[in-house]
Amino acid sequence: MSAETVKQEIRSLLKERNAILLAHNYMRDEVQEIADITGDSLALSIEAARATADVIVFCGVHFMAESASILAPAKTVLLPRLDAGCPMADMVTVEGLRELKAQHPGVPVVTYVNSSAAVKAESDICCTSANAQKVVNSLPEPEIIFVPDRNLGRYVARFSPKTFHFWEGYCPTHERLTVDTVRRLKGEHPDALFICHPECNPAVLELADHVCSTSGMYDYCHKSTVRRFIIGTEAGILYRLRQENPDKEFILASPALICPNMKLTSLEDIKAALETMAPVVKVPEEIRVPAKRALDRMLAIPRD
Ligand code: 13P
Ligand code: SF4
Repeated sequence: MSAETVKQEIRSLLKERNAILLAHNYMRDEVQEIADITGDSLALSIEAARATADVIVFCGVHFMAESASILAPAKTVLLPRLDAGCPMADMVTVEGLRELKAQHPGVPVVTYVNSSAAVKAESDICCTSANAQKVVNSLPEPEIIFVPDRNLGRYVARFSPKTFHFWEGYCPTHERLTVDTVRRLKGEHPDALFICHPECNPAVLELADHVCSTSGMYDYCHKSTVRRFIIGTEAGILYRLRQENPDKEFILASPALICPNMKLTSLEDIKAALETMAPVVKVPEEIRVPAKRALDRMLAIPRD
């Protein structure tokens, strides 16, 4: 079956099931092409919460589908590849977080959305890479426990007078970007701006002209009068950057910036999920309710 035929079948299945297809900015090009909405973790959570469809086909990784299930419990959330996980999310466990909380009693826990529902349920408030700064500033306490991303946490801490207690988790994909690679590329393209995601390691972030979430990159590159950019995040971001800015050049900072989990979902997987209405991601109520509290508290913070 040709890719075009599969796409057509997906479109008609989406209609038949009253389903909406959400895709993260790192998905394969052909998945982004057929999505109803593409976005970063924050935008997709908001879309999941406000969707009127009965079914959400979540093309992303497991924690994102869990967030959709937490925010929209009456809807069926399909994750076409149940094996699409996030190694960073898996680095923090409920037991580990409880131990850290016990070491710092009364200190609020800020949890990056790249975490399991069970870990969110143990947290005071969630954040994404787009709003981490605002979330930290919204808390009156002078100390913060920040999990699981040590790089995002340390980046946010640079702009805050608070005392941070970090979890030493990281994204294996973003960690692969090295200072040497960025320096070499900047030398080869002195007119280019280097834009990167806060999941990169602190030494790489030091070299950045701008640090932002995936959706922040679309805004920034579109508005900028500069014509060439070195991009320090997962390769999937290039699809829309190039589409929306045909007069600009985007250079991926390293060929190693590919998240294997984000690349798992194929058109065939999406079609099969809609045909069989599986795999479903459903968060049990005893975890969903406290996890929703942490997500809602984040969503109550006004966006720019
Ligand atoms: P965003 O929050 O920018 O979408 O990033 C999610 C993610 O998984 C980055 O690796
Ligand atoms: Fe997780 Fe990194 Fe992949 Fe994002 S890019 S899903 S943080 S492993």
